[in-house]
Amino acid sequence: MLKIEGLKKSFHKNQVLKGINLEVNPGEVVGIIGPSGSGKSTLLRCVNLLEKPDAGAFSFGHLNFDMAKVTKKEILAVRRHTAMVFQQFNLFKYKTALENVMEGLVVVQKAAKAEAKERARQCLEKVGLQDRMDYYPSQLSGGQQQRVAIARSMALKPAIILFDEPTSALDPEMIGEVLRVIKAIAKEGHTLIIVSHEMSFIADIASHVIFLEGGYVLEEGSPRDVFTHPQQERTRQFISRISAFGDFSI
Ligand SMILES: Nc1ncnc2c1ncn2[C@@H]1O[C@H](COP(=O)(O)OP(=O)(O)OP(=O)(O)O)[C@@H](O)[C@H]1O
Ligand SMILES: [Mg+2]
Repeated sequence: MLKIEGLKKSFHKNQVLKGINLEVNPGEVVGIIGPSGSGKSTLLRCVNLLEKPDAGAFSFGHLNFDMAKVTKKEILAVRRHTAMVFQQFNLFKYKTALENVMEGLVVVQKAAKAEAKERARQCLEKVGLQDRMDYYPSQLSGGQQQRVAIARSMALKPAIILFDEPTSALDPEMIGEVLRVIKAIAKEGHTLIIVSHEMSFIADIASHVIFLEGGYVLEEGSPRDVFTHPQQERTRQFISRISAFGDFSI
């Protein structure tokens, strides 16, 4: 479904991604883990072409192109089929939850207003916000705002949803509600790529785990392979440091 080969990205002299291969099949949940600064967000942003890569072969459905020479048309085509959920929600402040979810449907997908409203309602219901549709972001908790952002991404029916640390800006008591919603989406068979520091969540939900370090995929495999039988010493260190905080169970 999505295949990226030899992805490279530098910021000035700092080469963050040094040749990444990534393959995502329909219905798969890919978990990306790795230390801070290892390039997890950059990788997601390159998948969505929010960053322009320096090199890489991109193949997605019928689309095949050289990422270093990507055209505006190709960028739009990729964006039409992917949605991103950010750490900081990125909701429109002066729009209600319902209007936030409708926005992309009306503006990007040119849906009729009534149709967009109905779809937005359904998506908000799915994330448990049927009684918060007319609230503005400032009237919602962090967990609720993130659920609006998730509903907004689902409304567009993307082929892949990309999550960049969807719970790291949340108070601890709100993390669970957001993780439960993401898990429900995964169970419905959606294709997801999730960057998260919530190791027990990744271990639970991912079908494939990628450990990013030093610009490369240092290790990958099933959660069991990566978390309980890591091949690389560096992965072992990373996992054990996290388990030491009790954030990990499988
Ligand atoms: N727009 C940018 N301009 C310059 N350097 C950048 C930019 N974006 C990222 N970087 C650099 O790229 C490296 C990787 O950053 P990135 O945000 O992808 O890491 P990360 O793995 O997501 O980290 P974290 O876990 O802290 O979110 C860092 O050294 C960062 O400073
Ligand atoms: Mg990041």
